[in-house]
Amino acid sequence: MIAKRSFDALIVGGGGAGLRAALQLASKAHKVAVLSKVFPTRSHTVSAQGGITAALGNVSEDSWHWHMYDTVKGSDYLGDQDAIEFMCRNAASVVYELEHMGLPFSRLPNGKIYQRPFGGQSKHYGGDQAVRTCAAADRTGHAMLQTLYQRNIAARTQFFDEFFALDLVRDAEGYVLGVVALEIETGQPWLLEARATLLATGGAGRVFRHSTNALINTGDGLGMVLRAGLPLEDMEFWQFHPTGIPEVGCLMTEGCRGEGGYLVNREGERFMTRYAPHALDLASRDVVSRAIAQEIQAGRGCGERGDHVLLKLDHLGEETIRKRLPGIRELAIRFAGVDPVVAPIPVTPTVHYMMGGIPTNLHGQVVTPMRYGPEEAVPGLYAVGECACVSVHGANRLGGNSLLDLLVFGRAAGERMLEYLRDNPYPRPMPKSGPEPALARLARWDRTDGGERIAAIRADMQRILQTHCGVYRRDDLLREGIEKLTAVELRMTRAALEDHSRVFNTARIEALELENLLAIARATLVSALARTESRGAHAREDFPRRDDDHWLRHTLYFREGDTLDYKPVRLKPLTVEPFQPKERRY
Ligand code: FUM
Repeated sequence: MIAKRSFDALIVGGGGAGLRAALQLASKAHKVAVLSKVFPTRSHTVSAQGGITAALGNVSEDSWHWHMYDTVKGSDYLGDQDAIEFMCRNAASVVYELEHMGLPFSRLPNGKIYQRPFGGQSKHYGGDQAVRTCAAADRTGHAMLQTLYQRNIAARTQFFDEFFALDLVRDAEGYVLGVVALEIETGQPWLLEARATLLATGGAGRVFRHSTNALINTGDGLGMVLRAGLPLEDMEFWQFHPTGIPEVGCLMTEGCRGEGGYLVNREGERFMTRYAPHALDLASRDVVSRAIAQEIQAGRGCGERGDHVLLKLDHLGEETIRKRLPGIRELAIRFAGVDPVVAPIPVTPTVHYMMGGIPTNLHGQVVTPMRYGPEEAVPGLYAVGECACVSVHGANRLGGNSLLDLLVFGRAAGERMLEYLRDNPYPRPMPKSGPEPALARLARWDRTDGGERIAAIRADMQRILQTHCGVYRRDDLLREGIEKLTAVELRMTRAALEDHSRVFNTARIEALELENLLAIARATLVSALARTESRGAHAREDFPRRDDDHWLRHTLYFREGDTLDYKPVRLKPLTVEPFQPKERRY
């Protein structure tokens, strides 16, 4: 028997984006539920280290318009300029709002919020390095999540902790009426009805073998959207963070380089002087990651396998590291076996962030593709944070812009949902068959007769993405990747769970997560094969140049028939002049 509850608004995901949107609704006395597959303060926002970018000008002169310029340039001109203007203009206000909620930012001697330089930031449209990222030491995401969670508790948001969302429920007219979810501890399926549903399920970095992402980042919202017949946008764009600990994946924040750290190769050379003579180690992430990949390729990598470079911090002194990068020191000692106070940290480009996702407008409304006429909002469905593509990051996100994105668009989506609730005061009738597809999906994992283990299938998928869709891509590599993935998908149809492994439903959750990951893996490979140019994080060896004539457009991947559609980049900002595409130099 399915259990049922009903709410005004349902938020799927308890990270920063979900909690910010929930707060907007709950503080207006709406009945709001947040469903999260982990305890909310363990959501992946907790591991955001370096900070949140906003042109406060606390350390040096700054302007939201310079921030906008840097973000457009960082996106390699694929970001939609109306959305970027909206985000950069609203940055200061969402940061001050959090400060007033009690977020314990680090402080400058004058008491203002501490800011550090981050990659791709400049003054005067490409001039000297700006200092724009607001930080709480190297634990900004942790501080943000605690603050937002406490505020939601005070606002009486109801939490469904350790619930796994299976699928959206829609009616015949396409209205989203809530989700079917699985209570992980008991295995009880639930129908959670709501007039408005927001997906804030985060990224899907676990589709790759080496990722800074938590184990929970399996793209569950993206899988739900694909199964609902809606497309995903720009799935070829995955950010490789330049400084992850090899094999382990642990993030060494860009804040390390912001505080004055730098990269060296096996010859001790500060190689970024050759790749980005102006910005050096604080060039945008795609540039630094490609530089590291090239150093390794040229045999100048470090260690026995020559598979990494070194991040030097020892010259900063123990005091700075203790004050500004305490978590990094702890992680480096624990996971790389080095104390950065005395020795450099081994680092390598590691998958970190998904620029693509569920297509939305500036109000967080999920939009239908233009292939059916002009873009329209899917009634009752919203998405924000990493699972969404609005698109402010385009082909490459700047560090510190993801916490900003989730706050600005979390608040905006909450506002638009308030309007929707006002205009749609009564729940729509739930069709009898509404939960059936989700329950059938669940029942498929009752099978225990033989079959291959989920972990083995997942590991092979991750290897395929890592090998065939890494920092550099090529037609033959991508095609081979798709072929191998097809074989892996076939194995998945025959997989089964061993009876004894279904303790606490964890094995069942892993299988359901892998279904989502496989769908995302395919969307990624198909989109990457189609884009025959190099732009931002998508670097094609066989098409090394950016091609604005043909590719100043977003891809839209549809699961049905494995097809693609396209939509133009919105080059027109809201109130200012557009930044015209030009060659990027750092
Ligand atoms: O390097 C970092 O601290 C990551 C920040 C980000 O991805 O925004």
